[in-house]
Amino acid sequence: MVKVGIIGAMELEVSSLKGQLSGCRISKKAGMEFCEGKIGGVDVVVVRCGIGKVNAALCVQILCDDHHVTHVINTGVAGSLNNDLNIGDILISKDAVHHDVDVTVFSYRKGEVPQLGVREFPADPHLIEAAEKAISDNQPELNYRVGRVASGDQFISSSEVKERIISEFEADCAEMEGASIAHGAYLNGIPFVIIRAISDKADGSAEEDYPTFEKAAAAHCAKLVADMLGLI
Ligand code: ADE
Repeated sequence: MVKVGIIGAMELEVSSLKGQLSGCRISKKAGMEFCEGKIGGVDVVVVRCGIGKVNAALCVQILCDDHHVTHVINTGVAGSLNNDLNIGDILISKDAVHHDVDVTVFSYRKGEVPQLGVREFPADPHLIEAAEKAISDNQPELNYRVGRVASGDQFISSSEVKERIISEFEADCAEMEGASIAHGAYLNGIPFVIIRAISDKADGSAEEDYPTFEKAAAAHCAKLVADMLGLI
């Protein structure tokens, strides 16, 4: 049986999904509220994990241990690292990497967590396909790419840092949770995908408009996640 854990870092990333839940049961752990019910007939647990990699990793583990989810989807916003991805566009993860891990002194590659044997955590091909089909069925006008998510405990807002992450990781977007969710899913043997709507260009431009873009982008993304649930 399919049971999908849906994680957003902020309330605005999960509020519309929570609004669609039927038969919602709420439980709390580690300061997070897990809302379990059905969306479009599919069993889901929707949760706001809070911002950053530690919150995200804890959340995945709780979803696995206490809620026995079979799949994990991360929805939210991201800064674009790809000129083809503009504000409002969608990035579906091919894989995810920690851009703030550096153990190169012991010959590991930038971003590689020691002794794990993987640097980029691969997303599940079936979930990627479901997300692409949900777009072509319901929002064919949406511009999207399947690409790499780079995550770190930092909001990227300078061209210099942006260029460094692009050159070191060939990533398409930057955010603060995806690689931890991918890492946690990988350790637990659970398929995952990250769906992010672009809210900014990760270079400090248009900062005054950020709250508006963020809200619209988050809603965009949540709609896509709801649309793909029936295709899993
Ligand atoms: N989330 C949305 N935009 C972001 C950025 N520029 N850096 C990190 N996380 C983000």
